[in-house]
Amino acid sequence: MIKIGVIGCGYWGPNLIRNFHQIDRSEMVMAADLDKDRLKYIESLYPSIKTTIDYRDIINNSGIDAIAIATPVNTHKKFAIEAMEQGKHVFVEKPMASSVADAEAMIDLSESNGCCLMVGHTFEYTAAVRKIKEIMDSGELGDIYYISAQRLNLGLFQQDINVVWDLAPHDISIILYLIGKEPEYLTTIGTSHINPRIQDVATLTMVFDANLIAFIQCSWLDPNKVRKTTIVGSKKMLVYDDIEPNNKISIFDQGVEVPSHYNTFAEFHYAYRYGDIVIPKIDNYEPLKVELTHFIESIEQKKTPKTDGRNGLRVVKILEAAQDSIDNGGKSVFI
Ligand SMILES: NC(=O)c1ccc[n+]([C@@H]2O[C@H](COP(=O)([O-])OP(=O)(O)OC[C@H]3O[C@@H](n4cnc5c(N)ncnc54)[C@H](O)[C@@H]3O)[C@@H](O)[C@H]2O)c1
Repeated sequence: MIKIGVIGCGYWGPNLIRNFHQIDRSEMVMAADLDKDRLKYIESLYPSIKTTIDYRDIINNSGIDAIAIATPVNTHKKFAIEAMEQGKHVFVEKPMASSVADAEAMIDLSESNGCCLMVGHTFEYTAAVRKIKEIMDSGELGDIYYISAQRLNLGLFQQDINVVWDLAPHDISIILYLIGKEPEYLTTIGTSHINPRIQDVATLTMVFDANLIAFIQCSWLDPNKVRKTTIVGSKKMLVYDDIEPNNKISIFDQGVEVPSHYNTFAEFHYAYRYGDIVIPKIDNYEPLKVELTHFIESIEQKKTPKTDGRNGLRVVKILEAAQDSIDNGGKSVFI
């Protein structure tokens, strides 16, 4: 039984607590938050879980094997380092840190003292994203021309990070997982409309090679909640709509073909193909349960988790480069 302490019981922390409480091989021992009302809420749901306003009660508790961090990103490194110094395994929410240097320090410590370090890139554990990866790897879509992701809604405005750090980590992790490599360079434009210091609308373009680009549009200022990714290939096109409760993935047998033979320019015309739309069946499970079970198994079997520190670092590298690009008027930043 892996004994768990969770730091941060705001919006997301209770989801971690619920799953660790339900997983057979983990025991939720203690939860910490600075806000006593959040702790009362946890106590009301789980009377067996001890609560504290001082995270050090978790870090210094020798009966706790592993911690999960669901606090604002600028606190992640401190909690992770202090926990690993006490030999505890660490699950840290995305993005794993607020700088590449912090993420590297976390990885170095986990590797030198043998602690498991896993990052909460939840979408890499969803049935939909795994299915898309399978479809892309099978070659069904052909050569990938571009990926376009939109993550838009009204709010929630964050006080410490901008919209790119808040919303783009999901799409960055999905795109890197699907494409299987890091971009060569990126460019990002972001603008601030409500708080002059914090960008609330942004577009990030990642260039993987001459023929493959990915765009991520993120906004806290959109009337619609949109979670949509379009993948356009030389053979077929795929749309992933995460808002859809059931039919999340549609594969369009559509494309444009250039005629192989033509004698005069007048004979030349593109052929547009409008074929079937297929909705593949995907499994129905809670990705967070799969993700946290994987964390427990990685500890038990001393295995490197799929979304380990190095996986999380790739995302932080892109976020830091995107911030550099925003701060410099959208300049290209090489990764
Ligand atoms: N994987 C996902 O799908 C997903 C979804 C939402 C949020 N997240 C991530 O989870 C993390 C938390 O996000 P949130 O939306 O829950 O934020 P939140 O602001 O709702 O909650 C953060 C909590 O941390 C507490 N906290 C801050 N400093 C603390 C300290 N020193 N000691 C103890 N508690 C402290 C706050 O009181 C608050 O209750 C972020 O990294 C976010 O990106 C991940």
